[in-house]
Order: sequence, then C-alpha cells, then structure tokens
Amino acid sequence: MKNYDVVIVGSGPGGYVCAIRCAQLGLSVAIIEKYNTLGGTCLNVGCIPSKSLLDSSEHFHNATHTFSDHGIEFQSVKANITQMIKRKDDVVSQTCAGVKFLMDKNKIEVHHGVGSFKNKNIIIINGKNGSSEISGKNIVIATGSKPNFFAGMEPDKKRIITSTEALNLTEIPKKIVVIGAGVIGLEMGSIFKRLGSEVEVVEFAPSVLPTMDGTISKEFTKILKKDGFKFHMEHKVQSVINKGKSIIITALNKKNEKVEIEGDYCLVAVGRKAYTAGLNVENIGLTLNQRGQVEVNDYLQTSIPNIYAIGDVIRGAMLAHKAEEEGVFVAETIAGQKPHINYNLIPGVVYTWPEIANVGKTEEELVSEGREIKIGSFPIKALGRARASMDTSGLIKIIADKNSDEILGVHMIAPRAADLIMEAVTAMEFRASAEDLVRICHPHPTYSEAMKEAAMDATEARAMHV
Ligand code: FAD
Ligand code: NAI
Repeated sequence: MKNYDVVIVGSGPGGYVCAIRCAQLGLSVAIIEKYNTLGGTCLNVGCIPSKSLLDSSEHFHNATHTFSDHGIEFQSVKANITQMIKRKDDVVSQTCAGVKFLMDKNKIEVHHGVGSFKNKNIIIINGKNGSSEISGKNIVIATGSKPNFFAGMEPDKKRIITSTEALNLTEIPKKIVVIGAGVIGLEMGSIFKRLGSEVEVVEFAPSVLPTMDGTISKEFTKILKKDGFKFHMEHKVQSVINKGKSIIITALNKKNEKVEIEGDYCLVAVGRKAYTAGLNVENIGLTLNQRGQVEVNDYLQTSIPNIYAIGDVIRGAMLAHKAEEEGVFVAETIAGQKPHINYNLIPGVVYTWPEIANVGKTEEELVSEGREIKIGSFPIKALGRARASMDTSGLIKIIADKNSDEILGVHMIAPRAADLIMEAVTAMEFRASAEDLVRICHPHPTYSEAMKEAAMDATEARAMHV
C-alpha cells in the first residue's frame, strides 16, 4: 500500500489548493475525487458555470436594453440557450483541465473513486475498477457540500430543481419560481430574468439576502423590483408539486393565509449542507455536529489529531476563497508553520448586476455589540464614470469606529463591486482608518472614487460630489 504525508479527500477549491501548497512545502500528496473531473462544486456546478451564464445573460440583457442608447443597433437579437450552455460547458472543462494540469505539475497523485475511512490513516478508494487502499500520515477531509431542502420541497431534478439542474436547463422558462432570496436564488434568478423569464421569489425572511447589511438588502430589493423580480416575502413554503409541464407551490403568508404560485420550474435555493456521505467517519469515531458538519478546532483539526477538515464541510461561510484559505492553512500547519486566517475579512460577493460585495461587520451586528460607530455612504449615480457607462444604481457604505476611525465594515452595491471590495479588504487588513482612505489618491473617472467619497462622508460628512 502506498503511503503519503498527506491524503486529501475531495478536489474542490479547498482540497486541490491544499494539495498544491502541501506539494510546494515538500510533502508527498494524494488527492481522492469521486467524480471524473477535478475542481468540486466550484468548478463543475458552482462558481464557474454560474458566472459563465451570468456573463452570457448580461451580454444579452445589454444588447436588448442598453445598446440602442449607446447608439448600437441590431436588426434582431436572440438568446440561444443551447449555445450559452455549450460555452459554459467549455469554460468548465477548460478550468477543470487546468486543475488536472496543476496536479501533474506539482506531482500530486490523483485517485478517482469514493474515499472512505478504514481507520485513522487508511482510506479505501471505491472506484469504477474496484477498490484500493492508500494511507496518509495526515488526512484532510475536503468533501464540500450539497444543496439543502426541507420537507415538501424535495427536488425531483426535472421541474423542481436545484442550482445544478438550473445550470443545465435546455429551455428558457416562461416563469421560474425560486424558493430562497439568498445568493443562489438571486444569481440564478438574474440569469433567467435577463433571458426573458418571469421570476418570482418566495422567501421565509422579511428581506432579501437576510444576513447582509440592512441598507444593502433594502436598496437591492428596490433595484430587483425595478428589474421586474416579484417577491413573496415572509412566506413559508408548504409544498411544491410537479404537475408535468408546470409546478405549483403552496405557501403560508405571515397572516397564515394559503398562497398558491404557479410556474414552469421551481428552483429550490434554501442553502447547502455539509457532505460526508460515503466517507464512513463513524469508522474512526468522528461525530458530526447537528448541522452534519465535521467539528474542528482553531487549527482545523478534528478530534483525531492527524485528521483535518476544511471548506464547506466545516463551520463558516460556504465560499470557494474561504475553502482555499483553509487549504493553505492546513498544509502549512502540517508542515510545521504557524499560519493565520482572519475570518472577519473574508469578503462576500453576489454576482448580480450591479454586483454586491461586503467585508467586515454589518451595521446591525455592530449596533448589537454596542459599538460606537459612524457611517459614511456615497451613491454610485453621483460618479461621472457611472453616467458614462449608464450603470448608476447602488451605493458604497463605510462603517468606522466613532472614536478611532478604524474601518469596521464596508458594504456595497456597485458595478464591479466584486473587484472594488478588495480595496476595503486590504485597508482593513492593515487596520486603516476612514481618513487613511480619504488620503489615498483614487484614479478618475472610476467607480473606486465612491470608496474615497464614502470614506470622506464617514470622517466628517465631507463628501465632495453630492
Ligand atoms: P467542494 O467544491 O464541494 O468539493 C468537494 C469535492 O469532494 C467534490 O468534488 C466531491 O465530489 C468530492 N467528494 C465528496 N465526498 C467524497 C468522497 N467520499 N470521496 C471522494 N471525493 C469526495 N463560492 C464563491 O466563493 N464564489 C462564487 O461565485 C460561488 N458561486 C457558487 C454558485 C453555485 C451555484 C454554488 C452551488 C456554489 C457557489 N459557491 C461560490 C460556493 C463554492 O462552490 C463552495 O463554497 C466551494 O466549492 C467549497 O469548496 P470545497 O472544496 O469545500 O468543496
Ligand atoms: P443562502 O443561505 O444564501 O440563502 C438561502 C435563502 O433561503 C435565505 O434567504 C433563507 O432565508 C431562505 N430560506 C431558507 N429556508 C426557506 C424556506 N423554507 N422557505 C423560503 N425561504 C427559505 O443559500 P443559497 O442561496 O442556497 O446558497 C448556498 C451557499 O452557496 C451560500 O452559503 C453561499 O455562500 C454559496 N454561494 C455563494 C455564491 C457567491 O459567493 N457569489 C453564489 C452561490 C452560492
């Protein structure tokens, strides 16, 4: 049986990045993946395919809504979903092949099959051609997550679908009903809205993206409604029924009245759950917590010291970049280094248009902690760059400590917010004050000027262009 310094189960952004860092540090590594392609949820059915379709649908939306204002005219424009899906599949396969290339380049041995614990060092690999065993001084569980659902809304993967099926639809629905106004619901909803579908969203909470800063959530609701999204807030779904060519959702509103909503498809997007099926953690005495997650300590170590866990399968944000940071953290810990992750500074992005991005704490969190704060904000519509591009919706909000001026949270709805947020992350990593941002020269005309103006507003209400 072959023995490695590190055996990693799962090849998503957590697992494959951990493998590369281990190899860079001179450790022998094997990675086990149950599917034929590497890259996990992120590359195959998550970040990459969803962004690919978001980009295609955004081009279509611009062609049909804004190009004529720019003086660009077409005879006719048509959305070809088959071609969009094909392009998305090509992007996915190129990206997955890129991970395979990185494994080979770093001499990481890849085993395809379901990894299952025999004991705390030996993993059985159940592959297409039978089973085999490998052993590791250290094991890293990086098995990710799967879509969650509740009783009554079980996906049948035909008309009651999860994001995985939604990324492969062969027709543009006339009407799609989304359960959950979270990240997946609004990103996938945006794709179909831009392609011409009616989109109705049923949400349990009183606001969209309920864990985000309240200002952002309120402002984004207005933008989505203007774009034609219809919301059923504070509705509790009782059942979803596939009627052959349509679906019907029954929900209770906050007055406890029964509401029925019909559509062609129902997208269930009510969160994801840690995935450990087939891993046989019980064989080694590892218990999962109530949410089915593998419990870890501050070193990302399970109760068995040579077994670590990272990414979606443990607590914390279910984000690819969080999984990657944890992959590097574990590799460096195993190699005897003392790495660090600042969980407060893991940015979140929603890739709608405009994009939404945030880092640090929300106003609601800081108020509930009793922290004395001051807030600055700046509307995107006041930027020359925004008028030039006709992207005038949104705002940047900076929250700073009332006394020290240290930036505690930055929340934005803005064109290219996904990239803009990194200025805030960098500033906060160096514990910058709002005044520090004001004193930095920002290029004109850019969306980044809204950061400087929001910081001016936070320091002394001295924003200049409003
Ligand atoms: P995963 O990527 O889930 O990988 C786990 C891997 O382990 C899988 O390949 C699985 O097959 C394998 N595996 C499981 N069990 C076994 C076993 N027993 N043996 C062998 N292999 C096994 N995050 C972002 O940061 N940005 C985004 O834009 C974004 N968009 C998303 C869009 C969608 C539609 C979805 C669903 C998710 C999105 N995410 C996004 C979340 C992101 O995909 C996850 O946070 C990330 O993939 C988690 O990485 P991971 O390595 O922990 O697990
Ligand atoms: P989510 O947690 O973002 O949103 C789920 C939504 O469903 C919440 O608003 C919640 O209140 C609502 N909900 C829960 N139960 C409900 C019920 N019974 N009826 C009606 N509404 C209900 O989860 P989502 O959107 O499924 O995404 C899963 C994970 O994937 C997220 O944690 C996210 O981090 C990750 N992801 C990240 C992306 C990104 O970074 N851009 C893109 C897509 C997914």
